[in-house]
Amino acid sequence: MQADHLLTGRVLVWDGAPLRDGRDVARIEEDWGVLIAENQIAVTGPADMLRQAAPDVTETAYGRDLICPGFVDAHVHFPQTRIIASWGKRLIDWLNTYTFPEEMRLEDPAYAAAVAGEYLDLVVKHGTTTVASFCTSHPASVDAFFEAAERREMRVYAGKTCMDRNAPDALCDTAIRAYDESRALIERWHGRGRASYVITPRFSPTSSQDQLEALGALWTAHPDCLMQTHLSEQIDEVDWVASLFPDARDYLDTYEAVGLLGERALFGHAIHLTPREIDRIAETGAALVHCPTSNTFIGSGLFDMGGLTARGIPFGLATDTGGGSSFSMLRTMAAAYEIGQLRGRALHASELLWLATEGSAEALHAKGRIGTLAPGAEADICVLDLASTEAIAQRTRQAETVWDEVFATIMMGDDRAVRSVWVAGERRI
Ligand code: GUN
Ligand code: ZN
Repeated sequence: MQADHLLTGRVLVWDGAPLRDGRDVARIEEDWGVLIAENQIAVTGPADMLRQAAPDVTETAYGRDLICPGFVDAHVHFPQTRIIASWGKRLIDWLNTYTFPEEMRLEDPAYAAAVAGEYLDLVVKHGTTTVASFCTSHPASVDAFFEAAERREMRVYAGKTCMDRNAPDALCDTAIRAYDESRALIERWHGRGRASYVITPRFSPTSSQDQLEALGALWTAHPDCLMQTHLSEQIDEVDWVASLFPDARDYLDTYEAVGLLGERALFGHAIHLTPREIDRIAETGAALVHCPTSNTFIGSGLFDMGGLTARGIPFGLATDTGGGSSFSMLRTMAAAYEIGQLRGRALHASELLWLATEGSAEALHAKGRIGTLAPGAEADICVLDLASTEAIAQRTRQAETVWDEVFATIMMGDDRAVRSVWVAGERRI
């Protein structure tokens, strides 16, 4: 083994999933380190042991900073970067007023490339090393995103957002174009370097039955792709789906009936679920994605983390840029904590950090590859300064345990807390 870098400091490790197995499976080890070899994590262990194992390797000493896996943001819309924090609308009006006009601008490949690059640079500054993104309906927006990620050597998931109704003509494709363009993009990008293609119907209101069926057929032909969409985000939307699909048993059934429900499905939001929907999600092993800043910002509702976890349903954590109000997974963990409080489940710092890393990686079927510092994982790492502002530092001075320190940064931290970011074994920040 030829080691390339040694990072030392406090290291976040777990033997299990804190959310499911209890917070005690997580530890923060002092004077530990992570040894990187050939873009992967070779060993994680006591710093002295690693120094002895690799005496010639350059050490980057982070002292009391916390070395974590890079954050994994399981649901974003990179095209909405420039309309984040747009005022005053709920979901359907928000889409029509802010989102669709901006997504139309990405018809220009140069504009799409500029936004994609700007977006990825922003998220890396916030400690995020992987995202699963919706693009626009323009195939060139998908190329722009994957090219920008490839240049930055980031592991990313993305797909062309298919829509053939209830959206501006300039954003609509057809059932056949959705199939053909998505298939061509799968052939170009899926499995190339660190890129994975995700089959992406926006949501049932903007797809005809024919288009949903076409994408169900595409997924059957490419079962190793993930499929991402939205489910039951707002009550008005759920009612609209019922009127658009009178034969469907519920919102989930509009996907289920056409083969768009399965283990590799990712459903964003999933707030207003019926018992039948919860049963079917649990039976099929599909994953949900919790988007807490979005759910409060657009006024959608409170995701039932505790109830869904008790049913064994996996879920990832996400910013939902730009329906969400922040690019930061720290801010997103804080919002998840606050929503948990409102639903009677106070998440521990270890559970929040796990959700933002390995939990999201599990939802993306990338466990062991990203979202962990375990040997064999790709070396995507975020190092957190646990006293990045005076407001946080004065709190951490009173901390009784290291988890109190970490929790203060989760609740009050932002990109200033991100000391350093490593992507594919190289330092980027
Ligand atoms: N539902 C359908 N499209 C979108 C979107 O772009 N953002 C959010 N938050 N919900 C959606
Ligand atoms: Zn979304």
